[in-house]
Amino acid sequence: MQQRRHVLIIILLTMLLPFSSTFAEESATADLPYFDWTVDKFAISEPLGGLSGDIKRGEAIAGNQSRGNCLACHLLPIPEEPFFGNLGPPLTGIGSRQEIGMLRLHVVDQSRFNPETVMPGYYRTPAQLNRVAIELKGRTWLNAQEIEDVVAYLASLK
Ligand code: HEC
Repeated sequence: MQQRRHVLIIILLTMLLPFSSTFAEESATADLPYFDWTVDKFAISEPLGGLSGDIKRGEAIAGNQSRGNCLACHLLPIPEEPFFGNLGPPLTGIGSRQEIGMLRLHVVDQSRFNPETVMPGYYRTPAQLNRVAIELKGRTWLNAQEIEDVVAYLASLK
């Protein structure tokens, strides 16, 4: 009896599995590997992993407190989200002040501009985290697709 109940639960879970990705939006790109990047003249000219960014998704990530949380430190034109801090410069109009490659480096690793920065390195080389637990190895704050989405969003702020 007990065993049949287990089998039933397993069957039910297996049926639900294909739907889970629809509910958890983040899991769609959660398995992306880490892509290497190179800096030339304070810019990363190539998109990470050759991926292309989506402006709308980028706006959502920038405004989401548990993802980019850029609003903790920057002013952004997202009226629906409360603005918290001004530790960083306002990012309104940033897309007309800077090339996309430079914007990418700001988001990937701001410490390349300012070694003392308080801004998190959202895609900093995981090798630099060489004393973390095995499960955290190769992880970055945002994944490559999320970085490209945020970069596309910043570039659209003209
Ligand atoms: C903890 C605060 C903090 C958070 C969170 C943060 N930043 Fe920053 N950011 C800064 C500061 C401070 C600077 C100014 C330069 C410096 O001190 O490093 C900066 C600089 C920048 C610049 C360069 C601006 C310019 O005019 O040159 C960009 C672009 C930027 N941040 C984008 C972002 C994005 C996008 C996010 C979210 C994914 C983010 N930042 C999250 C603090 C933050």
